[in-house]
Amino acid sequence: MELVEAIKARKSIRGYKPDPVPKEVLNQILDIARHSPSGVNNQPWEFVVLTGDALERAKGVNAQLFTSGAEISPDIPEPRFTGPYRERQIALAKHIFALMDIARENKEKRQEWGAKGMRFYDAPAAILICIEEEAFSHQLCLIDIGIVVQTIALAALEFGLGTCIQHQVVLYPEALKRALGLPESKRLAIGLAIGYPDWDFPANKIPKEREPLDNLVTWKG
Ligand SMILES: Cc1cc2nc3c(=O)[nH]c(=O)nc-3n(C[C@H](O)[C@H](O)[C@H](O)COP(=O)(O)O)c2cc1C
Repeated sequence: MELVEAIKARKSIRGYKPDPVPKEVLNQILDIARHSPSGVNNQPWEFVVLTGDALERAKGVNAQLFTSGAEISPDIPEPRFTGPYRERQIALAKHIFALMDIARENKEKRQEWGAKGMRFYDAPAAILICIEEEAFSHQLCLIDIGIVVQTIALAALEFGLGTCIQHQVVLYPEALKRALGLPESKRLAIGLAIGYPDWDFPANKIPKEREPLDNLVTWKG
């Protein structure tokens, strides 16, 4: 896919076909993504690819903790947005709930939707992006992680795959690390659901909402 087309076409996919993603394809995507830039070329990213039993374990732990109301303790704190950022967050949630026909007062369905998110939206594969604790303390590394995540999401399009970048899936890092046998010293920055999009799934019909360019740019000189 052409680059500009890919940047504009990428959107978060929250409903997937059950078809498995070949290991070779996942490998190629990560092989492309490792070409991403990073501060002083430190390449702080490590990828944990989840499929099969491991993915089921991760889904189970996440959904169970979420449903039981366990307190979250993410390595990157969950933001508490205010002002226009909070408004955009609410608008997104409202739009998804409307598409999914989930009424505001229907706590059960909202909880089910939350649990689906915790299960990587039932994607057939997922990727966790980890950083070793030594690099994690440097804020610049989080920019590197953001770059590599977007590169993965764009590269996936080349193989007909969709993705959803997800912070929610790393809200319980200690339990997830235990379930997956990952070392204590890894910090879980972000996750990514990946699979073949189900274009009939209502939430996938969400349009991309963006601020007009004029609201974002200040020209000097
Ligand atoms: C850092 C980051 C964290 C995100 N976490 C979640 C998440 O936990 N759950 C979710 O459904 N989407 C998540 N998203 C997807 C955003 O909601 C989405 O990118 C945004 O609404 C713009 O829509 P688009 O990706 O379709 O263009 C996240 C995206 C980013 C960049």
